[in-house]
Amino acid sequence: MLTYYTATTLDGFIADPDDSLDWLLRQKGGEGGSFGFDAFLSGVGATVMGSTTYEWVRAHLARSGESWPYAMPSWVMTSRALTPVDGADIRFASGNVRAVHEAMTAAAGGKDLWVVGGGDLAGQFAQADLLDEVVVSVAPVTLGAGRPLLPRRLDLELVETGRSGAFVNARYRVAGPLLEDRVAG
Ligand SMILES: NC(=O)c1ccc[n+]([C@@H]2O[C@H](COP(=O)([O-])OP(=O)(O)OC[C@H]3O[C@@H](n4cnc5c(N)ncnc54)[C@H](OP(=O)(O)O)[C@@H]3O)[C@@H](O)[C@H]2O)c1
Repeated sequence: MLTYYTATTLDGFIADPDDSLDWLLRQKGGEGGSFGFDAFLSGVGATVMGSTTYEWVRAHLARSGESWPYAMPSWVMTSRALTPVDGADIRFASGNVRAVHEAMTAAAGGKDLWVVGGGDLAGQFAQADLLDEVVVSVAPVTLGAGRPLLPRRLDLELVETGRSGAFVNARYRVAGPLLEDRVAG
């Protein structure tokens, strides 16, 4: 099972145009809310993220002195040679996400897979029919512009809702391409 689990603004951005998450980190309920996040993370055997997200995490670690947060192998999608984080199991990859999905599945030992972000990367998995679930924690913020949550045309089925602190939480099953596109195609 591949899940895109993320926090978003009400108007569908996961970061502001300068990649700031200040609007998120000050919310009551914490980063990403707490919609079963600990249970979700304990079921994850591999993660994948784009290079912008990776560089944000690296900068955050440098600022805070914290260590790499994920015990499981993490794939970072990039066309560039990026600096690894000491002591972290990071695997750089590029190109078609199908091969990455296969490698993650093999490494995860039967556990679930997590797309940390960003939105276009989640979209690449959805386009390859590999994204099973989207779980969002919606912060009470609008930004007007920024990094989009999921810039693709998809139908989703609402499976679960909840609230954690300031966040509205929702779990969706990815049904597939937007019905109108399937009909037109
Ligand atoms: N709200 C939240 O909870 C949350 C969660 C996650 C992330 N974020 C934030 O949201 C922002 C995400 O930014 P984003 O959506 O612009 O970017 P992103 O997915 O993190 O990174 C995009 C970059 O990854 C590389 N990439 C993506 N797919 C690739 C592929 N198939 N092959 C090779 N390289 C590939 C490309 O860069 P290069 O090839 O140039 O390296 C691309 O420009 C960041 O600021 C992050 O901190 C927020």
